[in-house]
Amino acid sequence: MAVPADPPPGAGPEGDPGYLASLRTGTMLAQLRRAFLGLLAVPVGVLALSPYIMRVETHTVDTPPLWACAVIPVAAAGALLLARRLPAALPVRAGQGGSRLSASESFRAGLFLRFALTEGVVLLGLPLAMAADSFLPMALSFCLGYPLVLWTGIPTRSTIEQIRARLEADGVSSGLWASLLAPYPKAGSGADPRSSLSLQSGRTRPERKAGPMGTYVISGAASGIGAATAALLRGQGHTVVTVDLKDADVVADLSTARGREDAVAGVRARTGVVHGLVPCAGIAGLTGVDPELVVSVNYFGALALVKGLRAELEAAGGASAVLLSSNSVTCQPGWNADVAAACLRDDEDGARRAAASADAVEVYPATKAALAYWTRREAVKDEWAGAGIRLNAVAPGMIDTAMTEGLRRDPRLGVFADAYPSALGRPGRPEEVAATIAFLLSEASSLIVGTVVFVDGGTDAILHPMKPEGMRIGRLALGVMHRASAAATKLKALRGKR
Ligand SMILES: NC(=O)c1ccc[n+]([C@@H]2O[C@H](COP(=O)([O-])OP(=O)(O)OC[C@H]3O[C@@H](n4cnc5c(N)ncnc54)[C@H](O)[C@@H]3O)[C@@H](O)[C@H]2O)c1
Repeated sequence: MAVPADPPPGAGPEGDPGYLASLRTGTMLAQLRRAFLGLLAVPVGVLALSPYIMRVETHTVDTPPLWACAVIPVAAAGALLLARRLPAALPVRAGQGGSRLSASESFRAGLFLRFALTEGVVLLGLPLAMAADSFLPMALSFCLGYPLVLWTGIPTRSTIEQIRARLEADGVSSGLWASLLAPYPKAGSGADPRSSLSLQSGRTRPERKAGPMGTYVISGAASGIGAATAALLRGQGHTVVTVDLKDADVVADLSTARGREDAVAGVRARTGVVHGLVPCAGIAGLTGVDPELVVSVNYFGALALVKGLRAELEAAGGASAVLLSSNSVTCQPGWNADVAAACLRDDEDGARRAAASADAVEVYPATKAALAYWTRREAVKDEWAGAGIRLNAVAPGMIDTAMTEGLRRDPRLGVFADAYPSALGRPGRPEEVAATIAFLLSEASSLIVGTVVFVDGGTDAILHPMKPEGMRIGRLALGVMHRASAAATKLKALRGKR
């Protein structure tokens, strides 16, 4: 049985600024707390009106019969006992975190039931007072029942924590705080304000409003583009759960089935709701790199996270995943179509077999092509767009990261590192790709679905000025072209030094 870990910073009780301060925020929690403030006024109103409801002219604070007062503490004890047992623990269901789909609903139902039970104690005083011809039962029920309402029936931090513990009693992470601290959609935004708590399913799932406190999962976040994206999102106030081989919240090897399971389980233990996912971990097809490993990390490792966290993305009530393709798909000739085809059949063994007889450098763009095709093929389906999850990809060009440092050092392929043309005359920075990823994660890109965005300083545009269907050029010719281009770049650099 999995033991839920503490929620990550910002998605736990420490993200709650307190009952009154939270009312000024635009979160689901603030909305709920405002509603409960209104409900709290009901018993006070009933108490204030009771002299008018009863025949005030004939009944005062006469000593009531004992039975009229004895019923109240019994009812209060029963209500307290029942209320503290609500809601029931989330069921552990098979499959991809399916149990989490009902977490927010269970919370809301449990809270309202607690409120109804304890408020029932207060209201019980009214008929008793009428039957006993005395105001005392009403006063007694208010004095006993109202503290119970405050203690167990309104969403204070400790009540939420108590309910969270009950929901997670079977070891299922609820992601409750992440739901409650998520932004509440404004009226007129087209979004269903209940979406992030009610988690209903259907084609027309609303988009989540962009705002602070979203929870994002990024693999490969220990370095390069993943690290830049994590820093950018954290800077925007979001919670980021990182996955990598090292220096990450969840340390896991995405090249193996076991590592992928650990990665998904590790994320689930930290959050039940994922607003955005960037499966960024990848390896280059350099000399000496196992081409089969390239397949397993780049394609199957990335999709294991996307598919494995689908339920958590759906639970956000409007989420986005941005996959990392590459402009090598259109700019590097000769990539291995068999590898890409096997990937797209979800046949890891077949893709690895096809890769084994190829060069890693041909396999890398094949995995990135497969990711781009998968994104386009799947994004429009009910399972994704229909469930409020937008899938898109970015296709970076030459970006200055540890990966491209490795390429520059490669004895055989290093010559190509700076050979590709760029309209900007420079490689990209990881932050520039991160900015595009953050845009695709945000609601600012709410209409973008199944798209591959080139972030390459114009390389693809230069190489394909007219025809979008691809470039047919002999490998020999391309090799000559690259070498000439590399020589020209070096010459330019030498001239610059003088
Ligand atoms: N840098 C570029 O020029 C460029 C261009 C196009 C696409 N991309 C893609 O962008 C992504 C990020 O590239 P980057 O340049 O930031 O690379 P990087 O080498 O700086 O970072 C890659 C990260 O992935 C992690 N990783 C590698 N294998 C892993 C495994 N088995 N399990 C878990 N984590 C693993 C590494 O530890 C590292 O932190 C990659 O998917 C890459 O293919 C990069």
